[in-house]
Amino acid sequence: MSNGKFIVIEGVEGAGKSRQCAILTDALNASGCAAVLTREPGGAPLAEAVRKLLLDPAYTPDAVTELYLYSAARRDHLNKIVFPALEAGKTVVCDRFIYSTLAYQGYGRGLNLDFIREVNARTIAPLKVDLGLFIDVSPEAGFARKGGADKTDRLERENLDFFNRVYDGFKTMCADGDLVPIDGSGEKEQTAANILQAVRRIL
Ligand SMILES: Nc1ncnc2c1ncn2[C@@H]1O[C@H](COP(=O)(O)OP(=O)(O)OP(=O)(O)O)[C@@H](O)[C@H]1O
Ligand SMILES: [Mg+2]
Repeated sequence: MSNGKFIVIEGVEGAGKSRQCAILTDALNASGCAAVLTREPGGAPLAEAVRKLLLDPAYTPDAVTELYLYSAARRDHLNKIVFPALEAGKTVVCDRFIYSTLAYQGYGRGLNLDFIREVNARTIAPLKVDLGLFIDVSPEAGFARKGGADKTDRLERENLDFFNRVYDGFKTMCADGDLVPIDGSGEKEQTAANILQAVRRIL
C-alpha cells in the first residue's frame, strides 16, 4: 500500500486554520479519500501535555526552549498519530506544523532560521510535507474574526508587531515556494474551495 499524503495548513491567529482543516478532512473523506485531522502542538497525549506547558502564561521560556518543546511535542505526535496513519495509506491534514516554528520562533522571536530549519528537518525525518498551505489573513483581520486575542493563551499576549513579523515570515515562505498561499479574505466556503483546488493537484 502506498503512503498517504501529508497536508499542512498554516496561518496566523484567527485565519481559519482549524475550521478549514475540518472542512478539508470532511471533503476528502466524502470523496472516498480516507483522511484524518490532527493538530500541532498536541495531537497525542504527551504532545498535548507539552502544548499545555507552552500556552501557560505561568512560564516564560525563551525562543530556544520553545523550539525544543515544540519539537519534542512534534516528534511524539508524528510517532503516535501521523506515521501510523500515513503508513495505513491515509491522508493526514495537520493544523500547523514546522512552518509555524519558523514563523514564530524565527521571524517572530528572531531565532536563527537555519538553526530552526535543521532542528525541524531532524525532528520530522524521514517525513516530507506533500503540501503546505498558508491561509492568507492579516493578524488584524484574524484577531477581529476571533473577537480579540485570548489573553489566557501565553502566545496571544504578544503585541501586533510580533504577529506582523510572523505574518511577513509566512509570506516569505510563500515567496520561497515552501508554502502555497490561499486567499482567506472571503467567506469560509470560498476559502475551502481555494484549498480543495490546491489539494486536488497533489492527490
Ligand atoms: N472565512 C471566514 N470569514 C469570517 N470569519 C471566519 C472565516 N473563517 C473562520 N472564521 C471565524 O474566525 C474565527 C477563527 O477561526 P478558526 O478558529 O478556524 O481559526 P484558527 O486559524 O484555527 O484560529 P486559532 O489561531 O485561534 O486556532 C472563528 O470564529 C471562525 O468562525
Ligand atoms: Mg485553531
